[in-house]
Amino acid sequence: MELVRDRLYFVNLDGIADKDLREACAELTWRSYRSILDAPKTENRLALVAFSGEVPVALWLSVQMPSEGQQRSHSLLSLVVAAAWRRRGVATRLIQMAEAELAARGISLVTTSYSSILPGAAAISGLLLNHAWIEPKADRIRICGRVGDTVTTSKAWDLLLRRLQSRGIRYLSWQDTDFDVIERAAVMVDAGQAPEWSDPRPWSGSLCRQLSLAILDGKGDLAGWVVCEPQPTLNRWYFPIGWVTPTEQDRGTLVGAYLEGSRRIQAKSGPSALAVLEASPRQGRAWSLFEKHFSSFALWSDRLLISQKTLSADGP
Ligand SMILES: CC(C)(COP(=O)(O)OP(=O)(O)OC[C@H]1O[C@@H](n2cnc3c(N)ncnc32)[C@H](O)[C@@H]1OP(=O)(O)O)[C@@H](O)C(=O)NCCC(=O)NCCS
Repeated sequence: MELVRDRLYFVNLDGIADKDLREACAELTWRSYRSILDAPKTENRLALVAFSGEVPVALWLSVQMPSEGQQRSHSLLSLVVAAAWRRRGVATRLIQMAEAELAARGISLVTTSYSSILPGAAAISGLLLNHAWIEPKADRIRICGRVGDTVTTSKAWDLLLRRLQSRGIRYLSWQDTDFDVIERAAVMVDAGQAPEWSDPRPWSGSLCRQLSLAILDGKGDLAGWVVCEPQPTLNRWYFPIGWVTPTEQDRGTLVGAYLEGSRRIQAKSGPSALAVLEASPRQGRAWSLFEKHFSSFALWSDRLLISQKTLSADGP
């Protein structure tokens, strides 16, 4: 392997004023992160660029997460090396520089998640392991499909929906409830009646109230919720959270909620609109249920691999 160590130098994107040069740097990450690179407030992000001469060849992009207690953490959103520069130690140098910079800022934890079907997934896993990150493990399953396919593929859906109806299960848009779903859900999370991962508060700024659903049981009590977020840059609807009370688990109630969500998206945006469902192993059987019910007509499905590293102010 040719080491490029001595010919590379590293620049914080915030120090680059030239518009064309910033554009060239932005080519080194996904389009959906463009708004983060263009944001006027920069203190909560690290955008570190590796240059060879005038040419940006790699970009590390991480953002600070809302702090939990004393620990301040960053989430690595993307780490990309230009194709012609790969396998020459560029990412190795960049990750070392970024970790040192974050530690100097008092960041003690850096986390990341990436798709198992990303062409570079094996490479990034190897790179992280080389740098003493925790072994990446599958955390969530994501399934992407056209809402029209979800609605029309199976006659079994009608049966399921009729059964849910006969039990008095109702799915209401968050706009149509006579209580604030986020407030009510927050009370349940804080009281330990709903798990932390189901907390919709972190999504309150970006979710779509019209398409997020409250799940009411036969007595009219809140028995779960589904959060729906528009992702216009990716041209899709995303369901990051779906939770039902233990009584409603394994009764098709959550699957029914996603079907209802798909119907509503279809009514709003047409049958070819894309939806992405997400489930975590912490949701128990939901993971395998989604694979069983939705994978057969998915355009793609993947696992999100997660990893993290504790940073020390004294360096590695
Ligand atoms: C992942 C990526 C950043 C690695 O950059 P790089 O500069 O080629 O990495 P390095 O040369 O520093 O290699 C460091 C380690 O990464 C791993 N690695 C890099 N490329 C690899 C590959 N093609 N296959 C397997 N492991 C690989 C190895 O463990 C390697 O260590 P080694 O050379 O001692 O075996 C680069 O391949 C890339 O940009 N991929 C596309 C974008 C992407 O998927 N980014 C990750 C998610 S945002």
